[in-house]
Amino acid sequence: MENSKNLKEAYNEVILLGFIKLSNVCFGYKDNQDIIKNISLELFKEDFTAFTGPNGGGKTTLGKLMAGIFKPSRGDILIDGTNSKDLKLGAVGKKIGYLFQNPERQIFAPTVEEDITFSLIFKGVEKQQVTMKAQEMMEIFQLSHLRNQFPFTLSQGEKQRLALAGILINEPSFLILDEPTTGLDIERKGQLSSILKELSKRGVGMAVISHDDEFIQNLSTRIIDIVGGNVIADKRK
Ligand SMILES: Nc1ncnc2c1ncn2[C@@H]1O[C@H](COP(=O)(O)OP(=O)(O)O)[C@@H](O)[C@H]1O
Ligand SMILES: [Mg+2]
Repeated sequence: MENSKNLKEAYNEVILLGFIKLSNVCFGYKDNQDIIKNISLELFKEDFTAFTGPNGGGKTTLGKLMAGIFKPSRGDILIDGTNSKDLKLGAVGKKIGYLFQNPERQIFAPTVEEDITFSLIFKGVEKQQVTMKAQEMMEIFQLSHLRNQFPFTLSQGEKQRLALAGILINEPSFLILDEPTTGLDIERKGQLSSILKELSKRGVGMAVISHDDEFIQNLSTRIIDIVGGNVIADKRK
């Protein structure tokens, strides 16, 4: 009896832990000029978190810190319990998927299919497994008919879906997306919303950086405003 109560308490503590935890995080591109100013916050997988705020406020910089791409100059970031300073980028990638503001920066391979499978092949995953997973991703993101295309010839929306497929094939626990609706028409935006909602329902944590009010209002459960490198509002719906 006593044991099961303790277990339940322990379980509650575990699920209430933030997946990404920032403590007094500062970061600057140049010495003596902090772009991120002493931010402490915790992101939970159970939320759909949106980051908003004016251009130049520090959202992209913060996103890269949370994805382990940049390391804080002061303070600490725990990603699933491990300090981002101790995590190699490859190890972070298994936990966090990060979509760059410009998805072209994430395209490497000569064909759509190879671009999607690149990271799994690199990791040495068995070929049959890779093909199966790639097929599933191409179906979800409506890329099957483009499998042999050169990625740079794709439209903005297709490139976006390709970048997402390449990220999600790694089955990350948490996704950080920087301005994912840029260049998408209303229909494509709707499709992206549905995909993200579904992933969130399946337990993938979500943090979306976006100016797009309608998109944010439709999806998010928590909205964090970043202005001048500070959190100026943090509201749950
Ligand atoms: N690579 C960089 N080198 C120097 N300064 C940068 C770099 N990237 C961004 N900045 C500066 O950091 C500030 C925050 O930028 P950013 O994080 O891109 O904000 P947001 O995504 O909210 O528009 C801006 O003043 C910007 O000019
Ligand atoms: Mg930005």
